[in-house]
Amino acid sequence: MKLFGSRKSYVGIDIGSAQIKMVEVEERGGHPALVTYGLAAIANGLYQSARSEIIDETAAALKNLSHAIHVGSTHAITALPGLAVFSSLIEIPWVPEKQLASAIRWEAEQYVPTSLDEVVLDWSFTIPYNPRGKKGDMVSVLVTAAPKELVAKYLTTLERAEFTPVALEVEPAALARALTNPGRVTPIALLDLGASSSDITVVEQGTLRVNRSIPVGAQVLVNGVAKTLGIDAARAESLLKREGMRDGEGSGVVSTIKGSLDQILKETRLTLDLYFNRFHREVKEMIITGGMTGMPGLVEYIGTILNDIEIVPADPWRAVSFPPELASVLTSIGPNYAVALGLALREFV
Ligand SMILES: Nc1ncnc2c1ncn2[C@@H]1O[C@H](COP(=O)(O)OP(=O)(O)OP(=O)(O)O)[C@@H](O)[C@H]1O
Ligand SMILES: [Mg+2]
Repeated sequence: MKLFGSRKSYVGIDIGSAQIKMVEVEERGGHPALVTYGLAAIANGLYQSARSEIIDETAAALKNLSHAIHVGSTHAITALPGLAVFSSLIEIPWVPEKQLASAIRWEAEQYVPTSLDEVVLDWSFTIPYNPRGKKGDMVSVLVTAAPKELVAKYLTTLERAEFTPVALEVEPAALARALTNPGRVTPIALLDLGASSSDITVVEQGTLRVNRSIPVGAQVLVNGVAKTLGIDAARAESLLKREGMRDGEGSGVVSTIKGSLDQILKETRLTLDLYFNRFHREVKEMIITGGMTGMPGLVEYIGTILNDIEIVPADPWRAVSFPPELASVLTSIGPNYAVALGLALREFV
């Protein structure tokens, strides 16, 4: 039970395939304030591993991290990776509110590739639903379908780590909350460069419009460099972190990385074209997040390939207050914590 005067406080937990990221935010004077944050490397991803032990392993890692960074709240919000969830923006003819749920379900059945019995179906409106609409109006609905089994896996993991799950979201939705302004009408792209996948999302007025997951991330780059140079993965990873796209010509590193990056950027371009064809609005700005953002020369390289798009720095912390002496460190780690922070902020907006 929540007692009068008790503070609202939530932990956002981003369970990535390479790292867990945690951010705790509490209400102070009516606004969200940063309490603590931290990350920990993990050997196997909760989503990626099919072994039953992965739940306890991940729960133990979550417990360790939350103790290490002194998390105070037990109320947690986590997210499924974009690639685990089917999402689509659909249009349905306007119906009275009472019939909405069944109309959306009926329409979703045509889009969702598996049986609706096996998924948790969720939806949100891109423009608020008008209860006084009329026949012939169209309603735009973002439908998401997450496999029930996967939802159970994530919720069980949180519970075994002694957290009380408050909500389960999709990573791109958390990114949109952390990085974009709901009042912003012009579209903006978010590119999350993770360890096992890269996600491109177009956001308008704070809501997702299109989203695509590309199964190429830092791990593919690391393995590629290890193979090209005949070195182990740990050395290849430190080379990527130290030199990245600035490595000397002829070493093979740059050409190896370029191949994978170009694949990600080609899919990114396709997604933006898809968005343009459907909505007739051009995306002119993009925010890049994820661990790979720190690779030397990466953002500049992306700027040369997507040269008609301005790369805007990620500043997820703008929505929370924090001690001023943390400003420069928070700015530099912002791209790593955008998902976790967006999750922690869910109950504040
Ligand atoms: N400076 C750097 N240069 C290149 N790669 C980096 C750098 N720092 C971290 N990485 C890579 O980023 C990855 C971690 O990024 P991130 O935390 O975004 O991944 P994740 O969320 O665990 O993965 P995913 O979202 O794909 O499941 C690691 O694989 C690491 O090799
Ligand atoms: Mg991630």
